[in-house]
Amino acid sequence: FSRSISASSSAMAQIKHVTVIGSGLMGSGIAQVAAATGHNVALVDQTDDILGKSMANMNKSLQRVAKKKFADDPKGGETFISEIISRIKTETDPTVPAANTDLVIEAIVENLDVKQKLFKSLDEAAPQHTIFASNTSSLPIGDIAASTKRLDRFGGLHYFNPVPMMKLVEVIRTPDTNDETFKSLVDFGKAMGKVTVECKDTPGFIVNRLLVPYMLEAVRLVERGDASPRDIDTAMKLGAGYPMGPFELADYVGLDTTKFIIDGWYEKFPENPLFQPSPLLNKLVSEGNLGMKTGKGFYSHKK
Ligand code: NAI
Repeated sequence: FSRSISASSSAMAQIKHVTVIGSGLMGSGIAQVAAATGHNVALVDQTDDILGKSMANMNKSLQRVAKKKFADDPKGGETFISEIISRIKTETDPTVPAANTDLVIEAIVENLDVKQKLFKSLDEAAPQHTIFASNTSSLPIGDIAASTKRLDRFGGLHYFNPVPMMKLVEVIRTPDTNDETFKSLVDFGKAMGKVTVECKDTPGFIVNRLLVPYMLEAVRLVERGDASPRDIDTAMKLGAGYPMGPFELADYVGLDTTKFIIDGWYEKFPENPLFQPSPLLNKLVSEGNLGMKTGKGFYSHKK
């Protein structure tokens, strides 16, 4: 009796084979954790070169885990890594694994047209029972699902970076997602060892809906000259108990990502005061200061 199998899902087909599309930051983490929890995984990206790099990064990540977990047993550590890696097959044509999979998780570029095009082709290739899920941060799941004929078997699985470390997954249902699909997605999230929370298909779901306007409000404090980024970060860490201040967080997430999310919401809901663009954020992004990844954002990260 496998630990990863939830007894409550016995009436439904178990998700055993997962196809993860996009092997970037998120997709490679999702593939790694799915394989580590006993699922067979197909990992898809545009080229073998990208997939090779993702697999190498995954190997490094697993080596760090093994070093701790098998501190006194290096041989055991090697077996642990090779067993996980052996459950992941790579592929450049997503329709090949989709023809024989229980769940597709999409983690490609955050662009509605590209995601719709992908799912349209998968809808034709995948069997009836296959559930589709997107890991999108800012696009409505319903808009992505609209490109398919399986609205009832479509939902959101929203993971957090870095996936192997972050315990949460938000499970999203649209008005069309059926109960069986939703339950399968929740069970799958739990089988991956994550804590699941449920949310409707609403901008930002739970975490980003609170976090992004909060970060923008912090930037507005600075724009008005009310306080400095450093003092705001100190205040939120020591006064509110947050592990990171809003500017440290914005630099970590990437200022372009934060701007992209807020711009998308503003376009759709221009009247919402929480979704107003920020001149300071826009200026930093236009200067190419995107946070940790470029060495400068609100702070300098040069070593
Ligand atoms: P990334 O840029 O690291 O990776 C995206 C990967 O998708 C790249 O390897 C790219 O080659 C591949 N790709 C692009 N178009 C493709 C296609 N048509 N077919 C197959 N592969 C394709 O991006 P990241 O950060 O992993 O984000 C992926 C998705 O996850 C986005 O929708 C994003 O909103 C979402 N997300 C990102 C989070 C983050 O912290 N970065 C957190 C939660 C969700």
